Amino acid sequence: KKVVLAYSGGLDTSIILKWLQEEKGCEVVTFTADLGQGEELEPARRKAEAAGVKEIYIDDLREEFVRDFVFPMFRANTVYEGLYLLGTSIARPLISKRQIEIAHEVGADAVCHGATGKGNDQVRFELAYYALDPEIKVIAPWREWDLNSRTKLLEYAETHGIEVALDKRGEAPFSVDANLLHTSSEGKVLEDPNDEAPEFIYQRTVSPQDAPDTPTIIEIGFERGDAVSIDGEAMSPATLLTKLNELGGANGIGRLDLLENRFVGMKSRGVYETPGGTILLMAHRGIEQITMDKGAMHLKDELMPKYAELIYNGFWYSPEREMLQAAIDASQELVTGTVRLKLYKGNCDVIGRASPYSLYSQEHVTFEEDDVYDQADAGGFIKINALRLRLLKARDRKAGKN
Ligand code: ARG
Ligand code: SIN
Repeated sequence: KKVVLAYSGGLDTSIILKWLQEEKGCEVVTFTADLGQGEELEPARRKAEAAGVKEIYIDDLREEFVRDFVFPMFRANTVYEGLYLLGTSIARPLISKRQIEIAHEVGADAVCHGATGKGNDQVRFELAYYALDPEIKVIAPWREWDLNSRTKLLEYAETHGIEVALDKRGEAPFSVDANLLHTSSEGKVLEDPNDEAPEFIYQRTVSPQDAPDTPTIIEIGFERGDAVSIDGEAMSPATLLTKLNELGGANGIGRLDLLENRFVGMKSRGVYETPGGTILLMAHRGIEQITMDKGAMHLKDELMPKYAELIYNGFWYSPEREMLQAAIDASQELVTGTVRLKLYKGNCDVIGRASPYSLYSQEHVTFEEDDVYDQADAGGFIKINALRLRLLKARDRKAGKN
């Protein structure tokens, strides 16, 4: 049996690699995706080679990740349960897609991931696998093996000569997932949701308290709903998000401590850092404010929680997500212009917006004299809108209902 393993090079997937070879008798192909997690990827190659892996894939997917996954999602101003910017959720469909492509390239009949049987990630990986290849076989070691404690895992690593990083010899402090959009941390010191997350959890943002005392002003350019430049300099999607991460991180922007509902039914507590994404969300809202029609905007805001839930639950490759995406994308045609933002001690505020397709009419809205709007028209507008409210109140009075 040949299997493509989503391989980070970390302890868990290194154990899985060995387990697939020894316990399952598989020929393993490893796939390591560079999604901008900011980790050296060469150790993953070295470790896979040491484990006797012959086909090793290490792919830089950063541009595709931001262009085809992060940006489409940000066109909808997507947040899950009001706060979570879906940094892990949105990466899984891309990893899965590439994994299936590799399976086809190397003639593997199975794919394998390192997500546990308790979480969202298993669902996201596997829904994507099956949507892209209905015949694929899935191996989810965490749901199968009996290495169900940290101690057993470390014993297994020990007896099979798997490198264990020093800080992993004790209890691993928490489970971390990172990419260009975010870093998430869960578990261990975070498991009591009433205890404040210690400062050492944070990896890519300074504490707002320690951020510079002078604000940073930036201008983001948008075309058709996607960010294309910072301070007038055109940038590729991944370059732009990388730059926003630097700016956000240095100003303490994008920290989130969240207790969320997992798809499988339990609640979990996570700490997220989404510095660039937080700026991007504010900026995108800013450019929509000036370019987007009210009806389109309000409908979009109604659809957003549904769209967020689809992504969170792993239904990226579903007809309903694609339907929503088509509507969202259509709304972005003239979402073009610039947004100026002030970054300051954890805050990110829009302080200016401009667009060649502005719908803002100063002539109409001015508190000074104008000759485009007849205030008398509003009287009829209000009377007609009030009609049913008046009839209702009159009826209630007659019925003796106060
Ligand atoms: N709770 C977040 C989510 O469901 C983050 C998951 C982090 N995953 C991980 N393998 N550490 O999207
Ligand atoms: C995991 O269970 O592997 C990570 C957490 C999640 O997927 O929700």
